[in-house]
Amino acid sequence: MPNAIAMLREDHQKVKDLFEHFESHDSGDKKEIVDTTLKELEIHTTLEEEIFYPAARKALDEMRDEEGDDTIDEAWEEHHVVKLVSAELKKMRSSDERYNAKFTVLAESVKHHIQEEENELFPKLDGHIDAEALGEKMMARKEKLQQRRANGSKGRGASKTRAASTRNKSKRRTRRRASGGGR
Ligand SMILES: [Fe+2]
Ligand SMILES: [Fe+2]
Repeated sequence: MPNAIAMLREDHQKVKDLFEHFESHDSGDKKEIVDTTLKELEIHTTLEEEIFYPAARKALDEMRDEEGDDTIDEAWEEHHVVKLVSAELKKMRSSDERYNAKFTVLAESVKHHIQEEENELFPKLDGHIDAEALGEKMMARKEKLQQRRANGSKGRGASKTRAASTRNKSKRRTRRRASGGGR
């Protein structure tokens, strides 16, 4: 069974490796490394915000940790900054003179954020969250997010239309079931 904290640590390591790769890659275009990193960060922060942070907040609250709320609020704000810088990077050409500098600043702030999660937040939660149950939830969500991304990159328009029509069909089915049931 996947363990939530182990999963997050693994993601952190992957991103740190990408940062190192970026730094050691002197020549040529770094856009591919940047794009891969941004995708990894997007999925990781979504999993934390949707599943892990709410569970962490609840656990810290139950432990009566006075700084708990602040810790989670700050983590959330750090994600927000990462998203802003990521959005800017996505719009930039890699030939832009500020591209590398912007990514380097992003890397520094993510590394700081990772350190706080790994050295402060995770140890506090040890034994106070159901890491396996959370891990399972996160794994399922991660697969969906990765799938959605894979479909999106194959042909955004087509997959969107397909997804919308499937959604409508299932909505109709639910409605039919709802109106038919119990009458
Ligand atoms: Fe985070
Ligand atoms: Fe994280």
